[in-house]
Amino acid sequence: MVKTPFGTLADGTEVSSWFLENGGTRLKVLSWGGVVQSLEIPDRHGRHANVCLGFDGIEDYVASTPYFGALIGRYGNRIGKGRFTLDGTAHQVDVNDGANSLHGGATGFDKQVWDVEPFTAGSDVGLHLFRTSADGEMGYPGTLEVKVTYTLTERGEWRIDYEATTSRATVVNLTSHVYWNLAGESSGTIEGHELTIAAGRYTPTDSGLIPTGELADVSGTPFDFREPKAIGRDLRAGHLQQLRAKGYDHNWVLDKGVTAEPVQVATLRDPGSGRTLKIATDQPGLQFYSGNFLDGTLVGTGGRAYRQGDALCLETQGFPDSPNQPAFPSTVLRPGQTYRTTTIHTFDA
Ligand code: GLA
Repeated sequence: MVKTPFGTLADGTEVSSWFLENGGTRLKVLSWGGVVQSLEIPDRHGRHANVCLGFDGIEDYVASTPYFGALIGRYGNRIGKGRFTLDGTAHQVDVNDGANSLHGGATGFDKQVWDVEPFTAGSDVGLHLFRTSADGEMGYPGTLEVKVTYTLTERGEWRIDYEATTSRATVVNLTSHVYWNLAGESSGTIEGHELTIAAGRYTPTDSGLIPTGELADVSGTPFDFREPKAIGRDLRAGHLQQLRAKGYDHNWVLDKGVTAEPVQVATLRDPGSGRTLKIATDQPGLQFYSGNFLDGTLVGTGGRAYRQGDALCLETQGFPDSPNQPAFPSTVLRPGQTYRTTTIHTFDA
């Protein structure tokens, strides 16, 4: 594991970059936002490529909000109007996406510096990332003690373990916002990637991308990814839900539901390189976002501009707006409880 200086924030805080490698996977992580700046894996001929979007400099991470590679908290995805009531108390969290709150507010966990501690455990190598989110940060109740662990195994898997405790009842929904392009960062569109999601239902949204509460059947719709399907195949089908989101930007209701252990729920494959990503999670939802807001205004690590559909996100999560949707699996955390969730990324070619 190698630690190098990455940059300095306006207030003088130093941001570090960590490099770790195991089982053919190479990972670069920043103390800023817990960002995965790059992740290199081999193709079917053993040739490595970085398969994640990112920026070269700290200034771009500070200035822009595509959430490239970042840890997301306290609440991944949206909370309608940034409002919810918990145990009879109304809370207003930061509104940063039209009328709604997105990804924890304007200075969510992606815009914070984390304490990073490297570790090795048997054949595993990894990083523990810590931060304390003060009571009231971005409007959320309770002091939240957060620990996220990134582990690279000898088989090259990248595992994320999230843990949090709170001093007051609150809501928590942590996730990772890596943008994948298995053909390689800066290589163009992901429309040829094949995606499989083990979900017979998804949560349709209103025009602000807040779930309506319905769990809609994917059968006969562009949202059916139960068999491997090229992302581009139905991307332009013109379904009202796609028109609202400019493509796919929805939560799939994983058939397995909440599980005690991670279960494999999605496979992404680039036929050209053979690179395959499998995702296992214990969470009930998966947000598939087809990079709809990338608009050619940001230049990435490869020195080229990112355009719509140049990468996609697969965010394991509780459902968006759960704090306002009693029928959705709960995202409430109370004092004395520990929030614990795991997502495992397995690579193959
Ligand atoms: C998530 C959201 C999208 C978008 C991206 C970041 O995937 O669901 O609507 O905000 O993050 O641009």
